[in-house]
Amino acid sequence: MARLIGNKKFEAAIFISGTGSNLKNLIKFSRLKNSPLKINLVISNNKKAQGLVHSKKNKIKTKVFSFYNHKNSENKILNILKKEEINLICLAGFMKILSKNFIKNFRGPILNIHPSLLPKYKGLNTHEKAILNKEKFSGCTVHFVNSKLDSGKIILQRKIKIYKNDNAKSLQKRILKHEHILYPKAIKKLASNL
Ligand code: GAR
Repeated sequence: MARLIGNKKFEAAIFISGTGSNLKNLIKFSRLKNSPLKINLVISNNKKAQGLVHSKKNKIKTKVFSFYNHKNSENKILNILKKEEINLICLAGFMKILSKNFIKNFRGPILNIHPSLLPKYKGLNTHEKAILNKEKFSGCTVHFVNSKLDSGKIILQRKIKIYKNDNAKSLQKRILKHEHILYPKAIKKLASNL
């Protein structure tokens, strides 16, 4: 488990694959007075991830690993995390599945944000699935990462209404705004429980 002794901040690495709006939002959160979050590292499996502009702009150390050889990339990442004394990982739109070995060997919590009301709609295309199933509500979840996909213990959720005229895109856009509220809250909750 992470320890928030001394300066009482998580020393975090954020993992991304794409747009990075959650990363941008977490950077903003980390800059607030008394934020429990300090972002020391951004990791991406995609060198073209748009989100990398945010880490570079904010002068946060950034590393890209192809994951062409999954095990090899994970081992390299574990070494960097150790070297940088990272004690929290936040997955933020990271589209690779971390192995059991990686999870076991990282000494701290690994969090993920997922755009559904877990345990419903794990995996991809959550908004399409929720609309297709005529759900009245959807939302987002921050949870601990374990070795099963989108199945770790839930930290916080936000529930939102699905409107009759919603499509996957409109729902995704609306839920993303709630993700930006939820992720910082979940990190605060985690910090206050330590
Ligand atoms: C977010 O909606 C996040 O919940 C989702 O990817 C999006 C990334 O957006 N994550 C997953 O689907 C993980 N299974 P962002 O790059 O703008 O933060």
